[in-house]
Amino acid sequence: MGAMTLAEKLGQLTMTASGYAVTGPIIVGDSTDAIKAGTIGNLLNLVGAAHIREMQRLAVEESRLGIPLLIGFDVVHGHRILFPIPLGEAALFDPDTWALTAREAAKEAAAEGLAMTFAPMLDVARDPRWGRIAEGPGEDPWLATRIAEAKVRGFQGANLAAADALASVAKHFCAYGAVTAGRDYASVDVSERTLREVYMPPFAAAVAAGAAAVMPAFTDLAGVPMTANKDLLRNALRGRFGFKGVIVSDYNAIAELVRHGIAADLAQAAAHALKAGVDIDMMADAYRRGLPVALERGLVTMTEIDESVRRVLTLKEQLGLFDDPYRRGAVPESAAALSHRRQLARSVGARAIVMLKNEREALPLAHSVRRIAVVGPLADAPSQMRGPWWGAAEEEGAVSVAAGLRAARPEFQVMHAPGVDIDSEDVSGMEAALELCTAADAILLCVGEAATMSGEAASRAHLGLPGKQREFAEAVLQRARASEKPVIAVLFSGRPLVLPWLAEKADAVLAAWFLGSEAGNAIADVVTGRVSPSGRTPVTWPRAQGQIPLFFGQRSGGRPADPNDRYTSKYLDVPNAPLFPFGHGLTYGRFALSNLRVTPVDVEDIDTMRIHVDVRNDGPREAQETVFLFTHDKVASVARPLLELKGWAKVTLRPGETATVTLSLRAADLRFLGPDLEPLFEPGQVEILVGPCADRSKLLVTTVDLSWSRPC
Ligand code: NOJ
Repeated sequence: MGAMTLAEKLGQLTMTASGYAVTGPIIVGDSTDAIKAGTIGNLLNLVGAAHIREMQRLAVEESRLGIPLLIGFDVVHGHRILFPIPLGEAALFDPDTWALTAREAAKEAAAEGLAMTFAPMLDVARDPRWGRIAEGPGEDPWLATRIAEAKVRGFQGANLAAADALASVAKHFCAYGAVTAGRDYASVDVSERTLREVYMPPFAAAVAAGAAAVMPAFTDLAGVPMTANKDLLRNALRGRFGFKGVIVSDYNAIAELVRHGIAADLAQAAAHALKAGVDIDMMADAYRRGLPVALERGLVTMTEIDESVRRVLTLKEQLGLFDDPYRRGAVPESAAALSHRRQLARSVGARAIVMLKNEREALPLAHSVRRIAVVGPLADAPSQMRGPWWGAAEEEGAVSVAAGLRAARPEFQVMHAPGVDIDSEDVSGMEAALELCTAADAILLCVGEAATMSGEAASRAHLGLPGKQREFAEAVLQRARASEKPVIAVLFSGRPLVLPWLAEKADAVLAAWFLGSEAGNAIADVVTGRVSPSGRTPVTWPRAQGQIPLFFGQRSGGRPADPNDRYTSKYLDVPNAPLFPFGHGLTYGRFALSNLRVTPVDVEDIDTMRIHVDVRNDGPREAQETVFLFTHDKVASVARPLLELKGWAKVTLRPGETATVTLSLRAADLRFLGPDLEPLFEPGQVEILVGPCADRSKLLVTTVDLSWSRPC
């Protein structure tokens, strides 16, 4: 650092993009010269081993100090081979698989020379209007926390310096999911309690798991943009959580402090961000242009700049870039590794599917089914299957539903017509598709959103089917009803949609999110019965848009809903209950839970409870059940949510088989933030609730008594 000029130091605090051209990535602007001059130290949006190696060569061999570049990319749910979108993958409720897919994504990206991923996205989201709900862990902080730990472990591996490890960037700190009215980039205003109870825990967990970096959200929190939020970045993140890594701004976010209205110019914006602890300026060029002016004006000190430079260089050191800048990208992956990854994408895809409804034994398809009409605009749409963050995946690299079914069974006669577009007024193709339905034994109605209708800058105010899809779906349902053919709706979306009519009329509904490269094969596996569905929804599905935000962790309030009492908390025109609760998801088995018991029932603060429940499969097929554990603190100094998720367990049972499932719960996990927001263990009664989803009427309940341990 002693040898570095100010320009070289600011280069280490700068991350700039290379753009994409049709023929592949190109370097935009003056990046090439700047890399040689040592005034750009980090890149994003560059893929391809040869390009990355060449840029690294310029930095290492042609710049004065030879400091290697840190090159990052949004490796969100895979790099070239895609796994399901994060919201879909959350439906697995399986930390080992979450870690495994991150590991595979990291291997693939690192094999091209990348060293950082802008993932995992850990924003708890309770408003499905917000398109970025697709990229994250769903509505619950406990679930999000488990995902945070698993993903950091997976991306980074055991050793950050390894050739297949990526530095993981936990984003977007904090409470981005709470944007006003679900509108992307809008302001956030949540209580300190909600911030700490709901939005912060996944980030604390990512830090504890060793996340190398954190990205602040674009948004402001009660008027203070996160990019300049000293209290949250310095006091909470670096202070309370003990984060020692690098803070990378979001794209152009430092310059946007001017638009936020807290900085008059770029110099002031840069000073605000640096003082808050933001180390790397992504794409705003505010540090290179603004910090020299800020220094002159006395807004920042060289010591503050040096602190950030040291953190960036330390991360490069930890990544092994100084030892061998070409370690990543040195060895191309084997064909066997790629085929193994595709297999994994297929099995994870199948497990991410949530069977929301299945009546009249519509699924799995009966053996007598030969002719299948696969209709709807998403039935043969490979590029859509990739979802809103497709990384470096090829447009045609994903398997469509029609292709998956054709490959699944040679005896199938798969007939396809889209009927309508995803989002247009054109109904001229409807009749042709309806005719296929008439000729078929079963109908797969593939409807939903386009991939780009969720993700960044993709908020929606209407959460129904876009374009003429509802009209088309109703016509298909009507045609099928007349001939008693099963209609299986396969729903593609980056969020829960509001489709009570479809849930009522279709025989079966599969939430297929966007399942990635192997989507069509994964769907075929479930539809044909090769795989029994086991996904559980990580978000509540509303029955009406006016219910939003709707999530299971609500409080009782003083006037909980009572249908016989007008002056209670409810709507006049729609029930409070969701269409599908958090955790809901059917299987090809039929499970019954009984005999809930907890030991001990008199629980001291140092105890760990063992919670046992018997699970029996009364259905005709082997299947996997997920048993959720919730708690409810009945009387506390601060009203607690009606249900708090504290764990889950999975069990696979053959027809007629019974097993006892055991879950553990530490009394310490029943602490909550007291009136002063400090963790508090309060003696008293706590309900332990166990069952298949967050619908209280389906849960077994028992009560334990909490007390302090007796002094020895
Ligand atoms: C903006 C997004 O908010 C962020 O999630 C992403 O990592 C960056 N762009 C870089 O692509």
